[in-house]
Amino acid sequence: MSAELRIRRMGHEDLPAVMEIERVAFSNPWSTEMVKKELTQEWSTVLLAEELTAGSWQLRAFSIFWLVHDEQHVLNVATDPSQRRRGIGRRVMEATLEVGRQHHCRISTLEVRRGNTAATEMYRALGFRAVGMRPNYYADDREDAVVMVYDFGNVAVVDAP
Ligand SMILES: CC(C)(COP(=O)(O)OP(=O)(O)OC[C@H]1O[C@@H](n2cnc3c(N)ncnc32)[C@H](O)[C@@H]1OP(=O)(O)O)[C@@H](O)C(=O)NCCC(=O)NCCS
Repeated sequence: MSAELRIRRMGHEDLPAVMEIERVAFSNPWSTEMVKKELTQEWSTVLLAEELTAGSWQLRAFSIFWLVHDEQHVLNVATDPSQRRRGIGRRVMEATLEVGRQHHCRISTLEVRRGNTAATEMYRALGFRAVGMRPNYYADDREDAVVMVYDFGNVAVVDAP
């Protein structure tokens, strides 16, 4: 993609735009309260990908992730449906992994619906690999979740005896 894209952290003023994408991207979307809560937890980050369009920055995609000890956990990623297959999901995920790398994370993990080919293929292209399955994981329709892991290549440091 050649258009100008910027990545930045979400603030409270971005809630309406994020919710607009969240509601159309998922069959069982997060509530406004759930997203709002992420802005208050110190271990949580929401990254936005915005595109410069006719002189103003438009939200195209976002990711929500936690940093806990040496692990990153990706909870939510979505691209505006009218902007898909332009490389924007990949860009926001690359920025997400970069934050994990900067925090010296060992791995990044996520769950994805078994039938979600678009997301699974994107994660695979980024270097995630499927490591397991959680049967009937999603409460609304009991679809299985595939557990995927990205390895940052940082080996845990263990003191020699
Ligand atoms: C998954 C999602 C975020 C991908 O966003 P996107 O901006 O369209 O992704 P990109 O354009 O960056 O695609 C990156 C790569 O992912 C893969 N991919 C993306 N969409 C795909 C599709 N529909 N079918 C197969 N592969 C796909 C491809 O490998 C693609 O690279 P390519 O275009 O060079 O072939 C988007 O489809 C989405 O918002 N889905 C609904 C929400 C969701 O399911 N989120 C994930 C929850 S775990």
